[in-house]
Amino acid sequence: MPDPFGVDLETARRRRSLKWRRYPEDVIPLWVAEMDFPVAPVIAQRLGDLLERGDFGYPPEPPEMATSEFREAVAGWMQSRHGWIVDPEMVSITPDTMRVLEIAIAQLSEPGDPIVLTDPVYHPFRTVIEDAGRVPLWVPMVHDGGRWELDVGALAAAFAREEVRLYLHCNPHNPTGTVFTVDEMRTIADLADRHSVIVVSDEVHADIGYGARHVPFATVAPTAAERTITASAASKAFNFAGLRCGYAIAGSQDLHAKIRSVPTRQRKSISLPGYEATIAAYTDGSPWLGDVNGHLLRMRDHAVGRLTAIDPSLVPSIPAATYLLWTDWRQVEVGSDPAAFLLERARVALSQGRDFGPSGEGFLRLNFGTSRAILDEAIDRIATALDGV
Ligand SMILES: Cc1ncc(COP(=O)(O)O)c(C=O)c1O
Repeated sequence: MPDPFGVDLETARRRRSLKWRRYPEDVIPLWVAEMDFPVAPVIAQRLGDLLERGDFGYPPEPPEMATSEFREAVAGWMQSRHGWIVDPEMVSITPDTMRVLEIAIAQLSEPGDPIVLTDPVYHPFRTVIEDAGRVPLWVPMVHDGGRWELDVGALAAAFAREEVRLYLHCNPHNPTGTVFTVDEMRTIADLADRHSVIVVSDEVHADIGYGARHVPFATVAPTAAERTITASAASKAFNFAGLRCGYAIAGSQDLHAKIRSVPTRQRKSISLPGYEATIAAYTDGSPWLGDVNGHLLRMRDHAVGRLTAIDPSLVPSIPAATYLLWTDWRQVEVGSDPAAFLLERARVALSQGRDFGPSGEGFLRLNFGTSRAILDEAIDRIATALDGV
């Protein structure tokens, strides 16, 4: 049987998604967070059924926002995979994960308000804050030689500010791959409680991890749920980001009502294929997810080993989750723009670190969600480019 994760460069290049089309054909793209593999067979089957029926009409839509089948699939997954009992009634379907953050910002803060986020973090966090006329309030992450952690003192100071009402949490953390511990999150939950801050917890990477248990933020303390909106989608772990379907899980009736009271067009625009794919993933996708996690663990270790052999300073920390590696280029002779250097000299595209926050200067994010052959080709090219400096 062919290796489902053994995609070769020629096949990958035929993909028509943004990852493979942004750069010229000779560039190996290890940037945006999608993988190079076909979707799980159970998802392909569901999508094939739609195709066979020519079933591309409007998806289920408001006022329910999600049929009970969808909401129950989400709740069932949370319980079986993360031990989290979710009331299906508190699930609202949205076009994607980021829309949940947009809705929360619109409903729970005012123009001009500071919104707390970590530095670094997935760069659209900053964009959604700024696009809504709010102001990013960065809280640094600290690197103690092992993993990146939150600077709790800085977080406490940020939460203590009178105008702060919202914190955008990312766990597992993109780009560093940190999985926050229960104790760390309890500290955040206590601070949120003390200062009446609502936490929007983006957990879209929860299902890709390498041993550290993912704990939903809403479950870490008795008071956590009522201050938490969880944002997620099946599309990251199951690799169908283009199908547009995510969801919010409100931790209280009040937050649920706030989500539901945005104009319906802001919550619509999901696609029927995305809706169906999510149900298939959360109902029957577990075995495939186990396989992809196994493959990604091997790719993580391979990438870390090879990059460390080139220069140990390139890999300050090994991600406990996500298929993203936060690499540090500050000690390597590649000039002030390592992304441009690698694009030009190695024909490999990584994500620009400074986009992820002020501390990202000199860092690049590498996506190892690909085959060993493609990863090796990219790292060979990087090694050759570095040899030439
Ligand atoms: C932390 C995080 N949140 C959200 C997203 C985007 O998800 P969506 O396309 O569902 O908005 C990504 C994509 O990489 C991500 O890494």
